[in-house]
Amino acid sequence: RVLIIDFGSQVTQLIARRVRESGVYSEIHPFNNISDEFLDEYAPKAVILSGGPASVHWDKAPSAPARVFDLGVPVLGICYGQQTMVNQLGGKVATSDHREFGRAFVDVIEDCALFTGTWAEGAREQVWMSHGDRVDALPDGFRVVGKSDGAPFAAIANDDKKFYAVQFHPEVVHTPHGAQLLKNFTHGVAGCSGDWTMNAYKDDAIEKIRKQVGDGKVICGLSGGVDSSVTAVLIHEAIGDQLTCVFVDHGFMRSGEADQVVTLFRDHYNIPLVHVDATDTFINAIEGEIDPETKRKTIGRLFIETFEEEAKKIGGADFLAQGTLYPDVIESVSFTGGPSVTIKSHHNVGGLPERMNMQLVEPLRELFKDEVRDLGRELGLPDSFVGRHPFPGPGLAIRIPGQPITREKLDILRKADAIYLEEIRNAGLYDAIWQAFAVLLPVRTVGVMGDGRTYDYACALRAVTSTDGMTADFFPYPPELLGRIANRIINEVNGINRVTYDFTSKPPGTIEWE
Ligand code: XMP
Repeated sequence: RVLIIDFGSQVTQLIARRVRESGVYSEIHPFNNISDEFLDEYAPKAVILSGGPASVHWDKAPSAPARVFDLGVPVLGICYGQQTMVNQLGGKVATSDHREFGRAFVDVIEDCALFTGTWAEGAREQVWMSHGDRVDALPDGFRVVGKSDGAPFAAIANDDKKFYAVQFHPEVVHTPHGAQLLKNFTHGVAGCSGDWTMNAYKDDAIEKIRKQVGDGKVICGLSGGVDSSVTAVLIHEAIGDQLTCVFVDHGFMRSGEADQVVTLFRDHYNIPLVHVDATDTFINAIEGEIDPETKRKTIGRLFIETFEEEAKKIGGADFLAQGTLYPDVIESVSFTGGPSVTIKSHHNVGGLPERMNMQLVEPLRELFKDEVRDLGRELGLPDSFVGRHPFPGPGLAIRIPGQPITREKLDILRKADAIYLEEIRNAGLYDAIWQAFAVLLPVRTVGVMGDGRTYDYACALRAVTSTDGMTADFFPYPPELLGRIANRIINEVNGINRVTYDFTSKPPGTIEWE
């Protein structure tokens, strides 16, 4: 396995993903939380130092643990990782007037193990740069293998020690041959075999679950989403009927969704499933509520209470299963220490583990979202399920903004949403989109149908592309398709007589309307 030491770059996670994509397991750990004992025990086959916002000239500039350079394993420094490597090994880093941000070109000056395959001597390679400081003088034993206009030491190598460093970011897609460079490092230089596959991961994870749980009982909350579904199926494969799933149906699911969950888990997988129809409790509690945060909090609280009650009925469970993913686990490196602003509380089941006094089983803790999907396929979950768009915990309750929520409005929205999703599936676009949904607007507009005047709700369609939900672009549908969807919704859904499309990107918008 490969250890990635994080100095706080926005794109550190991409390093881990690229390395894993090449069949090598990798983990990210923050620079200021790595002891020598940890390093010895972890015994990485190679170390990668990430980029970051710091300067080696800062007071208390972050640095790599000195031991990293004595482990006898290959080390690759990226951007700030290069600067600190050079600084720590006796070279010089200068603050440069010639800052480089964005696309740049590196001339490959000399051959080097990082360049095998694509980066031929004499070639100009497109790369992505983001730096103010730059390396000015090399430590002993290093040679320059690539340079750019702004970075005379854009790529450097110490072949004896197998230390390499680059000023650019090979992990981003804007460095087209960057993945090859990383693979050359992990496979070629470090000799990793690249046999880390989802199948092997699955077997491993099952073993771990068996060991942790023994003959204890586990309960798992199912939401109908990919993460909780994969968690449940994996745990069931490990410990069979020691697992019970609880599906709290809050009544804000999409059309047919609750039935799908019950059919898939109870009938297809034969997993013990408690289906709690709590629709009335939830809807009564927020009927008439407008404020988005109040809705989220109320739904979160009721969810916990309902779940807890059911868990008590089942009785005697020692473990609570959760579909926590790697991005939620990675400790983030913070230099400012300032509080970040809460845009939305994303309140789902936070607080549940503490209240219930159970041990957690979190078999997806090491995986990225797309890896969870692979694991789901490995476990035989249908593609249509594994490829589902994300759906927020509070469901349709946050897609009826600015107006009191009623059962009637939920029904109207459900119908419009179902038509919309059916049409984009038929058009073959579902998988190209990160998330698509309808929003019921709090305005009534005038229309004409047949000879009559209508006065009904307007609805907005939203579709975005994204890689992680943090930033997003609106999806550019062909106008004919939008026209067809609008037509169907207006003709088939009683209560809607106008359809609009949302062209907002994130930022400045968010994906959901509230
Ligand atoms: P925003 O609207 O913040 O959404 O751009 C980013 C992603 O998060 C989802 N989302 C939620 N998920 N509980 C959830 O589990 C919530 O309260 C919540 N609010 C937004 C949203 O669907 C998108 O995928």
